[in-house]
Amino acid sequence: MASALYDPHHGFYTKGPAIGSQDGAFNTNAMFPAFAFAVTLAIQQAERLVGEPLRVIEFGGGTGELGAYITKFSPSSLEYIIIETSPRLREQQKKKGLTTTDDIKMLPPGPTFVLGNEVLDAFPVHRVMSDGSGQLMEMYVGLDTHEEFTEIPGALSTSRLAKRLHDEKIYLGRGQIAEICLEFHDFLKKIQSVVSKGYLIFIDYGDEAANLYSYTQRNGTLRSFQSQRQTFDPFDSVGEQDLTADVDFSALKTAAQESGFIPVGSIQQGPWLYNIGIEKYLTQIDDSQQAQTDIEQLTKLTDLGSTFDIQVFKTKGLPDGLGLHLS
Ligand SMILES: C[S@@+](CC[C@H](N)C(=O)[O-])C[C@H]1O[C@@H](n2cnc3c(N)ncnc32)[C@H](O)[C@@H]1O
Repeated sequence: MASALYDPHHGFYTKGPAIGSQDGAFNTNAMFPAFAFAVTLAIQQAERLVGEPLRVIEFGGGTGELGAYITKFSPSSLEYIIIETSPRLREQQKKKGLTTTDDIKMLPPGPTFVLGNEVLDAFPVHRVMSDGSGQLMEMYVGLDTHEEFTEIPGALSTSRLAKRLHDEKIYLGRGQIAEICLEFHDFLKKIQSVVSKGYLIFIDYGDEAANLYSYTQRNGTLRSFQSQRQTFDPFDSVGEQDLTADVDFSALKTAAQESGFIPVGSIQQGPWLYNIGIEKYLTQIDDSQQAQTDIEQLTKLTDLGSTFDIQVFKTKGLPDGLGLHLS
């Protein structure tokens, strides 16, 4: 999955895919100005709660659509920086006038609003399978006798995989497959090194571990997408299609806490939009009919088969907020 998405030459994201457009791999919130407006309201609320201006750091800015809309809706003094791994997508972001880099270490610590829309679901996962008696195997990628990609079971590449499930009190059933992402900890530690105070918002599909790894999902949640269609075979058109898996929100929370952040809570995207005040969007733009349609679509938006949740975290000493309850 890491190679298919991020290989320096052939990776799906490295090549700078169309995201969100008609021929893009998938739909995303970032296509909708109304969504950017809601995030802008969240940034402004965060600034009021912190009591000073915040710079915004967006992770995985894609084509830069969301960043471009947010900076349009915000005062010109807003400092907006994208951290993006894909060089081609960075080019697209620069063309939209956005500041972008692949290196978070170049940023000094400061009061910050961290934003990640559908970035966590694009982190590579390990795939494990259980024999039902507590024994786990990892599913590696190899070649079959026809030189085609195939899954080959083997010993776990790291004991962290078994530890994760053990810590989450997850016991997989016979033949059950689970995807495990081990990236969250390092990711949040890096964020912690640049956020002196502020809030973090991640928008993504996923679930708490107990639901994500229930036996009803015995084949896991890894899926592949091309031109707005699910393609069902991760080994098809490698580097030409998107691969993704549901986010383990329990693991995300644990990693955030271990990095010094405090979980504020989570909520589905639909109610979040209204709590944060999306209806103000209708009075701000000319075509309120279109705006209403966009808001309705955003409220329902299910991308890649799952609905979106908003996960909010804060640094110590700040009040709760950011649309988790009606304000
Ligand atoms: C599913 S796309 C979402 C893009 C955009 N946020 C949107 O909603 O349209 C994932 C994005 O995250 C980027 N990405 C993946 N891992 C990253 C990381 N560790 N740091 C920063 N960006 C990353 C990808 O290159 C891609 O731009």
